[in-house]
Amino acid sequence: MPDPFGEDADTGKLYMCGIIGYTGHKNSLPVLIEGLRTLEYRGYDSAGVAVCTADGVIETVKSKGRIDLLQEKLDSLEKKVEGSCGIGHTRWATHGAPSDTNSHPHTAPSLALVHNGIIENYAEIEEMLVREGYTFYSETDTEAAAKLIDYYYKKVNDPVLAMFEAADVIRGSYAFGVMFCDFPGKIFAMRKDNPLIVASNDECGIIASDIPAILKHTNSYYQLEEGIVSVLCGSAIEFFDRTGKKADQKRLTVDWNVEQAQKGGFPHFMIKEIHEEPEAIRQTVSTRLGEDGLPLFGVHELDGDKLGKFKSIHIVACGTAMHAGLVGKAIIEKLARVSVDVDVASEFRYRDPILDPDDLVILLSQSGETADTLAALRHAKANGVCTLSIVNVIGSSVAREADCVLYTWAGPEISVASTKAYSVQCAMLYLFAIQLARVKGRLDDDEARELCRRLCEDMPAQVEKALELSRDVESIARNYLAVENLFFIGRGLDSALCPEASLKLKEISYIHSEAYAAGELKHGTISLIIEGTPVVALMTQERLCEKMISGIREVKSRGATVLAVTTKEIAEKYNIPADNTVILDNVDADFAAFPLATVIQLFAYHVAAQRGCDVDKPRNLAKSVTVE
Ligand code: M6R
Repeated sequence: MPDPFGEDADTGKLYMCGIIGYTGHKNSLPVLIEGLRTLEYRGYDSAGVAVCTADGVIETVKSKGRIDLLQEKLDSLEKKVEGSCGIGHTRWATHGAPSDTNSHPHTAPSLALVHNGIIENYAEIEEMLVREGYTFYSETDTEAAAKLIDYYYKKVNDPVLAMFEAADVIRGSYAFGVMFCDFPGKIFAMRKDNPLIVASNDECGIIASDIPAILKHTNSYYQLEEGIVSVLCGSAIEFFDRTGKKADQKRLTVDWNVEQAQKGGFPHFMIKEIHEEPEAIRQTVSTRLGEDGLPLFGVHELDGDKLGKFKSIHIVACGTAMHAGLVGKAIIEKLARVSVDVDVASEFRYRDPILDPDDLVILLSQSGETADTLAALRHAKANGVCTLSIVNVIGSSVAREADCVLYTWAGPEISVASTKAYSVQCAMLYLFAIQLARVKGRLDDDEARELCRRLCEDMPAQVEKALELSRDVESIARNYLAVENLFFIGRGLDSALCPEASLKLKEISYIHSEAYAAGELKHGTISLIIEGTPVVALMTQERLCEKMISGIREVKSRGATVLAVTTKEIAEKYNIPADNTVILDNVDADFAAFPLATVIQLFAYHVAAQRGCDVDKPRNLAKSVTVE
């Protein structure tokens, strides 16, 4: 896969929320709404706009839900919002549930502000500002930034300087778009660790979180550098550094259309999202690690004593999420020696499962809205069992209704085929397993810390290396375009990955496949292996390699064509009788699930894409299954 990004693009980083800002001669509102619509693909749960009139009055309108709801709210206002300068935002909740109040823009007496990113020390800032007489209305980290800039503006009486002063205090990441009442017609922009572009044409100036939102106006833009404040007034753009001196920025051009830009230059969202896995794993794990490098699960049921008392665990989910549960079972049982069942949610709810008050039920869900998973959660609660949800969407039903929640940080997943959400579900289950093992006295703090480090640092790096195999996998995938049936086999942890490898291939390429524990084939299914039957053997577990090699011989002697996915170390040490191999970098056997997951997803993707399938929207499927 050629690098679809230009030199200044932020490949593989996860940016949620969308920013748009307009300053010009027209009414800004329709431009803002249109810009927000081009950012919808990023996923969001609420939207809002602030518009400044020529005499410096800022009107803010925000709404939980879709942009259509925001539009309805705007339409229903008696006094129409109008002004030639405005900022808009689509929010993907991080701090505080989706709600009108938590939506952006956030305001302070002198300004309105939109923000992408996370203000880590927002609580400290709030505390300081409350002492200074400020009142806070939302649960967001962003409101602290708005009020902090206002606080400095009052002190220094200069908007650019106020933004720099606030930036000195803020820890975290941000892209800010700000309008000050005292400077009608101007937008002030600044960023750190979050992209923000500024652009202009002959008529207007635009700020945006990413390229799709500017393409209607221009294809040339500045990727704002960190440590610079940009001031836009109509089509005039100025840049200032910390000393107040004017600065230069490099102008870039892009020749993507809106759709290409939304996919970051990748041909499909699925492959873009696979490339986001390293960052998604890093973010998911790092937000749950304390300063001592150990898991930090916060308060209530997941704290030490209570966690240690759970006698057995039920993981309940659907589809890919359920498959992440299989990986979770393997690692929880190995590290913590607590027994784990994995259930399909649609069965769990009806099969009258044996639930003990000392059990824990873990619900896994990307969307948090899957009907069967939600019903299983309610069933567990009705039986008095503690429930923990691991969910990617803040404030979703499964997150809200469970007794405790651990959020994953994959960012919005657009492609129907779940990829990065699976990787982060696995990562969170690993972290959970480490914590449980620690509480159970099976790992001391140093051992636990080292496993957390591998998860947070080594795994993103391993997945990055697996992504480098994309071209090799693409060319191997060419051999599978006309295939009708295929088998995935593996042992140990690898066998937990086989069902996901099979589901991924089936759902997007429409090729039938089966997942089998390698040792189980000979009990019946091997009768289906004939001359040319393709078999993909996952073999990252060295202790089981000889057994896998016997399994490969068994199928090869019946005519199978075998692709082995293994590690360098195993490939060098063993003579694998496969027709083809994909070789991963060496990886600790217990952690092989991460790079292996990436390779099986790449395999499914490249087969489906080369077969010309509608990869992101496979037939008969919806992203979120909210019906039974
Ligand atoms: O949103 P959820 O994680 O609860 O969704 C569960 C399944 O519907 C989902 O993983 C589905 O199997 C995907 N299409 C698989 O790629």
